[in-house]
Amino acid sequence: MAKVISVSNQKGGVGKTTTTCAVAAGLKKKGYRVLAIDLDPQGNLGFSVGANTETSASIYDVLKGEVKTQFAIQKTPSMDLIISSILLSGIELEFTDTGREFLLKEALRPMQAFYDYILLDTPPALGILTINAFTASDTIIVPMLSDIFSLQGIAQLDETVERVRKYCNSDLSIAGILLTRFNPRARLSREVRGTAELIAEDLHLHVFDSYIRSSVTASEAQSLQQSVFDYAPKSHIAQDYGRFIDELLARGV
Ligand SMILES: Nc1ncnc2c1ncn2[C@@H]1O[C@H](COP(=O)(O)OP(=O)(O)OP(=O)(O)O)[C@@H](O)[C@H]1O
Ligand SMILES: [Mg+2]
Repeated sequence: MAKVISVSNQKGGVGKTTTTCAVAAGLKKKGYRVLAIDLDPQGNLGFSVGANTETSASIYDVLKGEVKTQFAIQKTPSMDLIISSILLSGIELEFTDTGREFLLKEALRPMQAFYDYILLDTPPALGILTINAFTASDTIIVPMLSDIFSLQGIAQLDETVERVRKYCNSDLSIAGILLTRFNPRARLSREVRGTAELIAEDLHLHVFDSYIRSSVTASEAQSLQQSVFDYAPKSHIAQDYGRFIDELLARGV
């Protein structure tokens, strides 16, 4: 049975896609069978791994019931992937039937036996796509920028998780908060870590010991459509994501 992990934060630009890509690629390098699904209509994950975004079926087609999940999977060098579609942005109005929260969970069911990990990259919103991701997930990784404003969104995210637990998925957990674009030498970053730990404690959340340092390597790798491990295996960012993956595995995620 695959472990399903959402990478989520309703705040934009916090490193969700970068984290999904790095964790998926890193787990695959360790020999796990990994499927990543791009649930963001922006389609950044598909681009980052150099997927075919022109003619291939997307998760939109799967959720609509028009394409079977296995026929939407693309094999790329760094992971198996299902791309998103701009049409996903209309899904809130398009899918109104009861049970619409469970569409992704149902779509993933036949894939469970073929993968060890299924990673879901979510859009920067707490709408129906993110609810579908949470309903289908065992746990959630919350990337967070190391600034004060980012802390304010965590309580709201936690409320959404609480609602999904109550109505759709009682087993859902939050694995923890991953500080991204962290600068271990800056006082502000260290203060944010301290504040994050206080807020997290209040909400009974975990802040991962590992953090991801700020580095242009992240966007360079993305624009060259390579994982950070292939593009610059010795870079800070590859080391940090490597350490983070080890921490995830050590925590039994
Ligand atoms: N550790 C890092 N250091 C420097 N830049 C980073 C880091 N992580 C991500 N970035 C860059 O920040 C930008 C936003 O990252 P990313 O796309 O992963 O965020 P996101 O949360 O998925 O955004 P969105 O909410 O729009 O989906 C990208 O240009 C990415 O290359
Ligand atoms: Mg993204």
